[in-house]
Amino acid sequence: MKGRFYWWNDWMDRKKKYCATTEKQLDADKFNAICAGTGLPNIHQKSTFKFKDVADGAARFVGHSPSGEKPYARIYTRLGNPNTEYLEKVLFQLECQHIIENALAHDEKSPTIASLVFSSGMAAITTTVMGFVRPGDGIIVGNVYGCTDSFMRFLQNRFGVNVYFVDATNSDNIKKTLEAHPEICAVLIETPDNPTLAMCDIEAISKHTEAHEAILMVDNTFCSPYLQQPFRLGADIVIHSLTKYVSGHSTSIAGAALGPYEYFSKEVFPVYKDFGPTPSPFDSWLNSLTIQEMGVRMEHQCKTAARVAEFLENHPKIEKVWYPGLKSHPQNDLCKKQMRNGGGMIAFEVKGGFDAGVKLMNYFARPDTPMELAVSLGSVISYIEHPASMTHSAIPEEDRNERGITSSLVRLSIGVEGYSILTQALDEGLSL
Ligand SMILES: Cc1ncc(COP(=O)(O)O)c(C=O)c1O
Repeated sequence: MKGRFYWWNDWMDRKKKYCATTEKQLDADKFNAICAGTGLPNIHQKSTFKFKDVADGAARFVGHSPSGEKPYARIYTRLGNPNTEYLEKVLFQLECQHIIENALAHDEKSPTIASLVFSSGMAAITTTVMGFVRPGDGIIVGNVYGCTDSFMRFLQNRFGVNVYFVDATNSDNIKKTLEAHPEICAVLIETPDNPTLAMCDIEAISKHTEAHEAILMVDNTFCSPYLQQPFRLGADIVIHSLTKYVSGHSTSIAGAALGPYEYFSKEVFPVYKDFGPTPSPFDSWLNSLTIQEMGVRMEHQCKTAARVAEFLENHPKIEKVWYPGLKSHPQNDLCKKQMRNGGGMIAFEVKGGFDAGVKLMNYFARPDTPMELAVSLGSVISYIEHPASMTHSAIPEEDRNERGITSSLVRLSIGVEGYSILTQALDEGLSL
């Protein structure tokens, strides 16, 4: 919607100058060096921070940060905490290293991108959307996670937001919907999407959103910053559920959002401050620890996933496999264009439909098998789950079927157990 956001023109200018790049990935060694870091702070398990004197307290309340810490970060932990601030900085570097370098080369004096860590991925999505949404606005939503989908329906039913559920894997659908509904001011996509692993072309979609002054939000959870850095491809806001690959050990729930500094500092941060979707210092510390080896861990997971996907594709009991890194995947070229590799997630259908899928999943519910029957993803432990009755059960059945989330679809998140262990068990589970 033209003229909707006062920060838009400045952001477009910076996007052109600092975000555009032909390098679609941050070099793996640089990535791992940023992750490892050198400054992991001790745990600041504190709710409040003492001021030096009255003038110091008053100055901090208007955003002063005398030692270079994040504005508002040393007042009260709901507003910021050293552990959360550290994690925000690491994520910022991973997603935005090229922006940092370009801005420095241009001698840019003011920040371009802000990074905020939240108590959950859903808190990151809801707070970031609440920063801009108003009754009567339109939002296009691609194939998204069940709770994101139900949040959008909540906005539609309670606050008069027009939500357009669109198949975003075809960017023409986005273009047509933007043209037909001028009140649309944002587009939210996941790529690869959850759970069918269909992909959206971020670069192509960003051309349409820019032409209509609509914010392009990319939920990057399935990739983590390791596999995909959406600012390089034209995204305006990047979202993560850190619960997945950043945690990598299923030890905490957390989220992150990164986006235009002007929008985040003036519109998102006030919602963050007042709604209170703040992570605990301990969870931020844990995620700052687990992110240290994320690239190394993911490299192993993704290599195993690529081999397991091939194994499944050639297995006589498997009907169909969806894995972006497979040559047979209809969007394999897009995967090569925007992802470092095919990722750690696989979706498949077992011959024999729902009942055969249930048999396989119940096999992995047994304690003597290497996976867990569980709904999260990105962990060192492999997880198997049934989207139609679990992660995506909140989506109406008709919409689910239209999106390919059939009752026989099974989702697999590959851990670090190793190819031979996993395929041996899959073979056994499929032969029952
Ligand atoms: C793609 C995606 N986005 C967001 C979320 C929500 O994250 P959280 O559970 O950390 O709130 C999930 C959770 O599964 C997800 O898969």
